[in-house]
Amino acid sequence: MRAGQTAVLILLVACLGLGALVLSCAGALPPVTPGLVAHAALRWPGIDASELHRGRRLYVDHCSGCHALALPQDRAPEAWTVVLKRMHERARLRPEQERLVLRYLESASAEAHASKP
Ligand code: HEC
Repeated sequence: MRAGQTAVLILLVACLGLGALVLSCAGALPPVTPGLVAHAALRWPGIDASELHRGRRLYVDHCSGCHALALPQDRAPEAWTVVLKRMHERARLRPEQERLVLRYLESASAEAHASKP
C-alpha cells in the first residue's frame, strides 16, 4: 500500500470513530418520555410532549454550534434559567423558543435528580 493510501485509510478510520463518538453523545441527551412529561406537568400543568420535543430539538439545533451540549442533569433545574439568560442571544432564540428550551432542560434535570437514590 502506498503512503498516500495509508494516510487516506487512517483518516477514514479516524472519521468513523469521531462519528460514533458524536452519535453516542447525542444519545445521552434524555429523550422525551411519558415520565419526563409527567415531571414537566408538575411545574407547568397541561404541558404536552410536543412542547418538550420542540424544546429538545431547539436545544440541539441552536446550542451545539459553539461547544458541546451540556446534559440537563449537569445543572440543577433552577440553574438553567441563568444559563439561558446568558446564552439566548448567542443562540438566536426568540423568547418563545427560549421558553421551550428552558422547559425541556429544567424538567429533564428535575427528573434526573428526583430519580437519584
Ligand atoms: C455563539 C456561540 C454560543 C452559542 C450559540 C451558545 N453558547 Fe453556550 N457558551 C459559549 C461560550 C463562548 C461559553 C464560555 C464562556 C461563557 O461562559 O460565557 C459558553 C458557555 C456555556 C455553558 C457553561 C457556562 C455556564 O454558564 O454554565 C453552558 C451551560 C452553555 N454555554 C449553554 C448554552 C446553551 C443552553 C445554549 C443555547 C441556548 C448555548 N450555550 C449556545 C458560546 C455559545
